[in-house]
Amino acid sequence: MNLLFASSNKNKIKEIQAMMPPNIHLIGLSDIHFSEEIPETSPTIKENAIQKAAFIYDYLKNNPASMDINGVFADDSGLEVEALGGAPGVYSARFAGEQKNDGANNKKLLQELKNTTHRNAQFKTVIAFINAKGLQTIEGIIKGTIAYEERGKNGFGYDPLFIPTGYRSTFAELDFGIKNSISHRANAIKNLLNLLQHR
Ligand code: IMP
Repeated sequence: MNLLFASSNKNKIKEIQAMMPPNIHLIGLSDIHFSEEIPETSPTIKENAIQKAAFIYDYLKNNPASMDINGVFADDSGLEVEALGGAPGVYSARFAGEQKNDGANNKKLLQELKNTTHRNAQFKTVIAFINAKGLQTIEGIIKGTIAYEERGKNGFGYDPLFIPTGYRSTFAELDFGIKNSISHRANAIKNLLNLLQHR
């Protein structure tokens, strides 16, 4: 089965392909020679995922690919912090400004939580999947807490501040393999595979 993943991020495609069973082949946007920016202008993580998947599904109708494509999916993720009412959420990448700087985002998060011990947070991924039968959305979550200082060098984004429940280390201190097996993205992909088996 060929699935088109609406992303041109080669690392993400590799990470997700590694989670797929051998009968599912992931196709990325570069394989269909799509190199534009996909609009991501929606007010929630879920609507952004739907917007991206729908955009590429429509694109394929007008620009059929040379190979058979059995479905299209897109993901969108963010960090939701309880004490901030769910922020930064859909604005995670640009929490500290349009330059999308991970260091500045982490500093801002520490600053906003500096007077509170209420550190609960979760990462959320929503996957929007579209095929001939229609649209379905799937979620993946990992719960944890926000550390009091940045720790660790692995990963990206808020990894140096996020301590998953059941661990003492931040995502940035954990081995890639461990993070990639428990993360919000991994959970969303497991749920997607489950859905594909029953659809
Ligand atoms: P995206 O939708 O996967 O591009 O994620 C949007 C933003 O959420 C990223 O730019 C990061 O700031 C944050 N984020 C998403 N997933 C992770 C993660 O696994 N670790 C750290 N930050 C993440």
